[in-house]
Amino acid sequence: MHAINDKVFITSVLNPNMRVFDVVMCTEYGTSYNSYVVVGSDKTALIDANHATFSHEWLEKVDEALGGGKPDYLVLNHTEPDHSGCVAACLKRYPELEVVCSAAAAINIKHITNLPELEPRVVKDGESIDLGGLTLQFVSAPFLHWPDTMFTWIPEQKLLFSCDFLGAHFCEPRLFDHKIVFARDYTTAFKEYYDAIMAPFGPWVAKGLDKLEALDPEVVAPSHGPILTKRGRLATGIEHYRAWSAVPAADTPRKISLFYCSAYGNTQKLAAAIATGIRKALPEARVCAHDLVDADMAHLGAELNSSDAFLLGSPTLNRDAVPPIWNLVAEIDAVNIAKRPVAFFGSYGWSGEALPALSERLATLKAAVYEPQFRVRFVPSENELDAAEEFGAEFARSLE
Ligand code: FEO
Repeated sequence: MHAINDKVFITSVLNPNMRVFDVVMCTEYGTSYNSYVVVGSDKTALIDANHATFSHEWLEKVDEALGGGKPDYLVLNHTEPDHSGCVAACLKRYPELEVVCSAAAAINIKHITNLPELEPRVVKDGESIDLGGLTLQFVSAPFLHWPDTMFTWIPEQKLLFSCDFLGAHFCEPRLFDHKIVFARDYTTAFKEYYDAIMAPFGPWVAKGLDKLEALDPEVVAPSHGPILTKRGRLATGIEHYRAWSAVPAADTPRKISLFYCSAYGNTQKLAAAIATGIRKALPEARVCAHDLVDADMAHLGAELNSSDAFLLGSPTLNRDAVPPIWNLVAEIDAVNIAKRPVAFFGSYGWSGEALPALSERLATLKAAVYEPQFRVRFVPSENELDAAEEFGAEFARSLE
């Protein structure tokens, strides 16, 4: 049985074959669903549960860690079903178990377990439970990455259970940061996890880091990926989160990105002309055009979400925008897109429905949809390319 020390056992389940998480996130390196058993001299607590698919395997590990004993508490740091899917099975096995969680999590877990009579023990920031020689202290950490999230801290061991914070969808069997074999892959997975899960909540990440650093942990045990230690990668992980969540300085040049697909090079010509117009109108801006074909969609999604303004270019196919553009739209951070300026352009052959369809979708997301859209029929003429350049300049001027 793996353990962090002689009182904290690791009951994580490895899922090396997972390639997609939450339907949309590609996970090239699999994942681990981490959970722990903390054994005090009087009481025993489970820290987080597991994905419903792995109920049986997880409960076997819990049984082994308990060595025939029964747990007193199940602490839920967060109720997303990858950590709560087998709570109902756990309560069936251990009916005396007391569920401990935040107020928001208490509502969720009733609906996840379909146990309306379940009455979790709701804990607030700073509250604690004495296990005998070990204390579980709860630290509110909302929006990291759900409203219900909290951390659990064991002061006697300087050990923090950080939920998804500082986690990664990464799966190696030796569980600790200083034992990682494929370090470069872990670094990639750590960044991808941040971009997909934490990036929409930058200000909350900064607050979470403040709380974490005030505790000065020796060990941070997240709910996915390797356990981080002071002698390993903890400081680097914190440093990265600080940098990625930092608010750009006021004098940082604006980033304006164009994303397009082009079947016959026509929408691509428009993208180039529009980019030229933007650069002429806003010479200090960082302007970059991205062709979506064969691109890494997660990377482009991060580019879009970090842009101050952006443009989407699509031909019309089957009375719609083309699938790669919609795939990119699916990467948009809906939490932070409100009021972000967006414009649309593209070449079309028959009826040109792509741009209105995109505009309608982005309006639903509450982006600041720029009008008019810029479209040409088939191949842009020299005059139309000049007009595209002027369109780019107009859009850029609208940002001032
Ligand atoms: Fe790993 Fe947000 O659950």
